[in-house]
Amino acid sequence: MAPSYWPLFNLVLRTPRLSLRPPTDDDFPQLIQAIDAGIHDPQMMPFSMPWTDTEPGARGQQAAQFWWRQRAEWSSNEWHLVFAVFHDDVVVGAQGLFAKHFPVLKEVQTGSWLTQCAQGQGFGKEMRAAVLQLAFEELGAEIARSAAFIDNMPSLAVSRSIGYRDNGRYREAPRGTPNTMINFELTRDEWLARRGELSRAHVSGLDGCLSMFG
Ligand SMILES: CC(C)(COP(=O)(O)OP(=O)(O)OC[C@H]1O[C@@H](n2cnc3c(N)ncnc32)[C@H](O)[C@@H]1OP(=O)(O)O)[C@@H](O)C(=O)NCCC(=O)NCCS
Repeated sequence: MAPSYWPLFNLVLRTPRLSLRPPTDDDFPQLIQAIDAGIHDPQMMPFSMPWTDTEPGARGQQAAQFWWRQRAEWSSNEWHLVFAVFHDDVVVGAQGLFAKHFPVLKEVQTGSWLTQCAQGQGFGKEMRAAVLQLAFEELGAEIARSAAFIDNMPSLAVSRSIGYRDNGRYREAPRGTPNTMINFELTRDEWLARRGELSRAHVSGLDGCLSMFG
């Protein structure tokens, strides 16, 4: 049972093949192992903040600081919910759901990664659908946004196959060379129209967390 002062440790999303739950410090070594095993071809950079370029020792420390920061800076107005993603009780990646001014704007954004040996099996789509279900059907979100580089085919495909619409472009230069980002948007009504075609998650442990989202 999670301590009453951090009820998010009770939150679990169970999809047909995956479990998603906010990582405790005990989960960090497995998460870092999944990062160190490789997330992408070193020739490309899928993230606008090129955090995977940091050498492994420092990267593990920075990753832990990032996960601690998301807890430390949590407010109902602005939050970043990190889920560790488990397949057969082994960490295979992370799925983020985050928002600014959530009680007013009702907008969420997502970000994710999977260790390379877990990619290409539909897990990316399954974990994104799980957090969208949480956002739209449990937390009252009205819009979900996402973005991916124009050459990140799996990430673009996850958004498009879930039903997001392209919503403009901008440029980022994570390694000093500009690349085009495609913005995506999905409204609540669009989600509700598509949800029957997507895997469903069983959500548990949410009741005690609801006040944390305003
Ligand atoms: C992006 C990522 C999370 C997607 O997860 P995944 O499990 O590999 O993707 P899935 O197997 O769920 O595939 C999703 C879709 O992409 C398609 N796809 C997968 N690889 C593809 C490729 N190389 N080219 C084109 N389409 C591809 C699949 O066919 C599927 O489309 P469909 O549902 O229409 O059939 C994962 O690849 C990853 O971690 N990549 C590195 C980190 C990253 O890019 N993070 C996102 C930053 S924006």
